[in-house]
Amino acid sequence: MKFRLATAAPWWRPANGNLLRIQGGRPLVGTYPISGAKNAVLPLMVSALLTPHLVTLRNVPANLDVAVLAALLQRLGCEMHWSTRAGDLALTLSADRIRPTGIDADLVARMRASVLLLGALLARCGEARLPMPGGDAIGLRAIDFHIAGLRAMGAVVALEGGLIHAKAPAGLHGADILLPQPSVGATENLLLAAVLADGTTTIRNAAREPEITDLAACLITMGAGITGLGSHVLTVTGGRALAGAVHGVMPDRIELGTLACAAAMTDGELMLPHGRLDLLGTAAESFAAAGVDLRETEGGLIARRANAGLCGIDITTQPFPGFATDLQAPTMALLTLAAGASTISETIFEQRFRHVDELRKMGADIAVHGRTARVRGVDRLRGAAVTCTDVRAAAALVLGALAASGETVLDGLDHLDRGYDRMTGKLAACGAAIVRTDG
Ligand code: EPU
Repeated sequence: MKFRLATAAPWWRPANGNLLRIQGGRPLVGTYPISGAKNAVLPLMVSALLTPHLVTLRNVPANLDVAVLAALLQRLGCEMHWSTRAGDLALTLSADRIRPTGIDADLVARMRASVLLLGALLARCGEARLPMPGGDAIGLRAIDFHIAGLRAMGAVVALEGGLIHAKAPAGLHGADILLPQPSVGATENLLLAAVLADGTTTIRNAAREPEITDLAACLITMGAGITGLGSHVLTVTGGRALAGAVHGVMPDRIELGTLACAAAMTDGELMLPHGRLDLLGTAAESFAAAGVDLRETEGGLIARRANAGLCGIDITTQPFPGFATDLQAPTMALLTLAAGASTISETIFEQRFRHVDELRKMGADIAVHGRTARVRGVDRLRGAAVTCTDVRAAAALVLGALAASGETVLDGLDHLDRGYDRMTGKLAACGAAIVRTDG
């Protein structure tokens, strides 16, 4: 695995050390560079499979998920060239000659976004064979909407022994598809398939996350006909041969919201370049109510704690522009230190409270009833040995550790590496006492 990652993503350094040690209680001050969005770059990389021409992505985040997807694409015959200019990591992909089989089960098991290969390979090659995708254990994470949509477009899909085998011998055709829920992944998969399918596809109840708009914008640059960007109805005029493109990946809104919480929790002040309030959706208002002061400037967002301090709020996760489920765990860390009580309802994923037990080890007062957590603010968290259980849980524990008294030691760091680009170094540059060591 390490060898494959090293050839597909030469910048990926297996992190030196399996433990993260954080001495808490230091304010974070300075500029924290916000990377390109993990959840935008993954579908953008897959979009390169739709054309034999070169697709160049700029502002690519250097995280483990990107390295794993690069290895997967390489196994499919996609050629990749990486370059760095002034700190900007760029990836040029060439899918001139690809083969729809040869997908690596180990790699697919590591990431949910690999399911997007289904739509793109079906559209380009008329066939795809894929193990069921893995990813974070945060819920059932079915792919029935993806499969039903592709079937409506003419695909024949068989699920056998943990394998998905999809074929479109006569090519895909346009369809009118109503998603039962605005699923991010299903919207992206169907969009990728529809741009090469013959005729018009309408995706109703589509997800509206900014990462989908970023994908659609890149596809439009490649020559695709897509209207309704940012709305619940996407209309795709398919069948056009796509050209190459050069596209800058949008800023990571989850990293943005997470670092805003970190600034407020440590009573510091962070400049978050390229940050915008609209990227946060209604989370911007929730943060303001909780005492996270966010000021929009030309260069980005400035985040600090409001003079009145942190105070408890109620949040319910929702599809965009509602409160992002990916910000739920970091926000819970924030609210453990807020005056009064908060209620957090998780409506997107069934098992996304696995950070609760770990935050409790640090002294947090949290009670869970079904999909609702009740948080009572405490004066201080204290350092402890904790385990990261998924990408966003990992971020929540880092935030707790930065604000806690004493030392916190985190393990399970693959989860952190999957979603965050050089987090240790960026935090250290803002004054955190943080080191990666061997256990
Ligand atoms: N769902 C189904 N059937 C489907 C598809 C989805 O029942 O065919 C359900 C899911 O089980 C879930 C809900 O619909 O309960 C929403 O899932 P969605 O498809 O929107 O999520 P996803 O595409 O699997 C992406 C992000 C997640 C993020 C969610 C919601 C990527 C690679 N992943 O997942 O990101 O939480 O959208 O915004 O884009 C993360 O970055 O930590 C992460 C988990």
